[in-house]
Amino acid sequence: MWSSTQLLVVLWTVAMGVRGEAGSNVNETAAGEFLDMYNTEAQRVFSANAAVSWAFNTNITDENRQKSIQSDLQTDLWRQNMSHQAAVFNTSGFDPDMQRQFYKIKDIGTAALEDVAKLEELNSVLAQMSTIYSTARVCLTKTDCLPLDPDITREFEKSRNEERLRRLWVGWRDESGKKMRQLYTQFVDLSNEAVKTLGYADTGDYWRSKYETETFEQDVASLFEELKPFYTELHAFVRRRLKAQYGDSVFPASGHIPAHLLGNMWAQQWNSVQNLLMPYPDQPILDVTAEMVKQEYTAERIFHVADDFFASLGLTPMPQEFWNGSMLEKPQDGREVVCHASAWDFYNGIDFRVKQCTEVTMEHFSTAHHEMGHIEYFLQYKHQPVVYRGGANAGFHEAVGDVISLSVETPKHLHDIGLLPTLVENNEADTNFLMAMALQKIAFLPFGYLIDQWRWSVFRGQTHPSDYNKAWWKLRCELQGVSPPVARTEDDFDPGAKFHIPNNTPYIRYFVSFVLQFQFHKALCDAAGHTGPLHTCDIFNSTEAGTKLGEMLSMGSSKVWTEPFQALTNQTRMSAQPLMDYFQPLMTFLQKENGQDKGWQPDCPNLDPISSAGQASLHYLLTALLLLVLSSHALTLNWNC
Ligand SMILES: *[C@@H]1O[C@H](CO)[C@@H](O)[C@H](O)[C@H]1NC(C)=O
Ligand SMILES: *[C@@H]1O[C@H](CO)[C@@H](O)[C@H](O)[C@H]1NC(C)=O
Ligand SMILES: *[C@@H]1O[C@H](CO)[C@@H](O)[C@H](O)[C@H]1NC(C)=O
Ligand SMILES: *[C@@H]1O[C@H](CO)[C@@H](O)[C@H](O)[C@H]1NC(C)=O
Ligand SMILES: *[C@@H]1O[C@H](CO)[C@@H](O)[C@H](O)[C@H]1NC(C)=O
Ligand SMILES: *[C@@H]1O[C@H](CO)[C@@H](O)[C@H](O)[C@H]1NC(C)=O
Ligand SMILES: *[C@@H]1O[C@H](CO)[C@@H](O)[C@H](O)[C@H]1NC(C)=O
Ligand SMILES: [Zn+2]
Repeated sequence: MWSSTQLLVVLWTVAMGVRGEAGSNVNETAAGEFLDMYNTEAQRVFSANAAVSWAFNTNITDENRQKSIQSDLQTDLWRQNMSHQAAVFNTSGFDPDMQRQFYKIKDIGTAALEDVAKLEELNSVLAQMSTIYSTARVCLTKTDCLPLDPDITREFEKSRNEERLRRLWVGWRDESGKKMRQLYTQFVDLSNEAVKTLGYADTGDYWRSKYETETFEQDVASLFEELKPFYTELHAFVRRRLKAQYGDSVFPASGHIPAHLLGNMWAQQWNSVQNLLMPYPDQPILDVTAEMVKQEYTAERIFHVADDFFASLGLTPMPQEFWNGSMLEKPQDGREVVCHASAWDFYNGIDFRVKQCTEVTMEHFSTAHHEMGHIEYFLQYKHQPVVYRGGANAGFHEAVGDVISLSVETPKHLHDIGLLPTLVENNEADTNFLMAMALQKIAFLPFGYLIDQWRWSVFRGQTHPSDYNKAWWKLRCELQGVSPPVARTEDDFDPGAKFHIPNNTPYIRYFVSFVLQFQFHKALCDAAGHTGPLHTCDIFNSTEAGTKLGEMLSMGSSKVWTEPFQALTNQTRMSAQPLMDYFQPLMTFLQKENGQDKGWQPDCPNLDPISSAGQASLHYLLTALLLLVLSSHALTLNWNC
């Protein structure tokens, strides 16, 4: 008998039309031998590729880029070859688990591009965009040229000088996104062409298929609708406080918040400006950055604190290879590196690394837990065949470290580990804490949702290259309620100023993660025997919680996500309820504070039209004519923050 889950996998395989051309060999013994061979070879090929890619990401040079492009190409060709060999088997009579493995071996994404020149072009385009992003510098004067990490990021966190923030905001977009507009157009065509050979409609269709849920797009849309009122209340409160700081004249009449005033280059999370936004400014501040600096925290110590938490749950501590191989600080020897934090599985069961230009701030403290969550997942599923070494879905992978942070960042826990000298327990302190969390978690929701709304539309061909930036800002203004501080045109390519666009990392996983992590948190808190409001729960030391989490993680992607999900949460669907329960006390407060003073116009405000639309599209056409034939990247080796 087949379970409904197994049936779903089979139906899914058929529906997605992964090509199985020959399909005549029905010998299950031979198929098992093929899977063993695949698994052995895959570890060799993927770990070699990871090593070369790591060398490039921690030392950006032309030589390392070329090696990385070549290694990606060889890996893609190997995956093509394996896919063809796998297609010889008619798997329809096989054991369902075997069918799932075959499906995954054949579902190779952009590596399916058969034309080697095009495959190389795709890899090269991606490597170029990644390099533009990671080596960009903004020069405010001839001599004052700043990288994003740590300098510009730090200014966004600390500076309250509107004009300087605006110049940095524009400068970053000029030096990053604007320079890769043509490359991105090239990438979209090549990537779509590749996945079409697998039977997918476009790249977005391929990405969404990984969630193995037919209603996925509607599901995330209705979760977003459900959560919108929470975001609207937060937005209104923050807007009032920022007006008090910067003056009404900086704010458009449309109700949008100018995107450069929220403490973050992309206005994606607002916790860096939390000291302007505390409901009760007289209560102790919950940003522990100053305390960490005072106690002379180092990058390594931050990671040890995170490691201790995982160990307290009875989960696997970081192995020696992690401490030896990771890059936990920005190198000081002049090397260019990809500073954006990421976690790496070398697919050899031995090497697991984090690359992070760690700063001693609460933000990075949180990021360190996030990245270590990825490593813990790698460690928990390292016994699985390579095809199953992935998250139940990508949202799960992003949620692990964040779930831990939900405990770590409670005032009680921060006090326990000596980062919050005075613990005040009353309603006002509680509201402040929930505000600090909302600035991370609620503020992020529309941003996490809209990035792939833009990309899905681009991949579908609904948004044309000539409208890339306009479509981007339509979403930003309408869904996020933020507006650009200066007029934007189709000369600009603001999506490219966000890491995950040039580095081709799907983004809806973060939205999914922000919903799931509260469902996980609730289930783990129940396991730990927590009583009282969800936002006061700290699962530290609970081996009961650790065991449940470990059971889910160790399954990797061997089952459709609903199965491990149900094992932990006793539910089968994503639900916004635990997130809303967690923040309910803050919502009650905000609704009272805001009254009717909330909301914004769906359209972007009219800003001074610096350059005419005609000029912009002519320029765009000329750029298009100057197109150079350039280059892919298929395999998810690393999990970006
Ligand atoms: C099935 O494959 C195994 C291993 O490759 C082989 O020994 C066996 O003869 C095959 N059986 C049939 C019926 O082809
Ligand atoms: C960086 O890569 C170059 C090769 O392009 C190599 O010569 C150099 O030793 C590398 N630096 C480090 C610190 O690994
Ligand atoms: C796979 O690669 C091997 C070794 O290079 C080669 O002999 C074989 O023909 C290839 N198979 C397919 C289906 O491409
Ligand atoms: C695969 O095998 C099934 C029976 O298990 C058969 O019905 C089907 O026609 C076969 N498909 C191909 C392509 O040979
Ligand atoms: C870690 O590095 C040290 C010093 O370089 C070395 O002696 C040790 O063998 C390494 N351990 C592992 C597990 O890689
Ligand atoms: C965690 O558990 C250990 C050992 O069971 C115990 O010594 C320690 O006090 C506990 N810590 C907390 C904060 O509960
Ligand atoms: C799981 O959910 C089902 C259906 O909602 C319920 O009947 C059952 O009691 C739950 N089990 C646990 C352990 O909570
Ligand atoms: Zn991540």
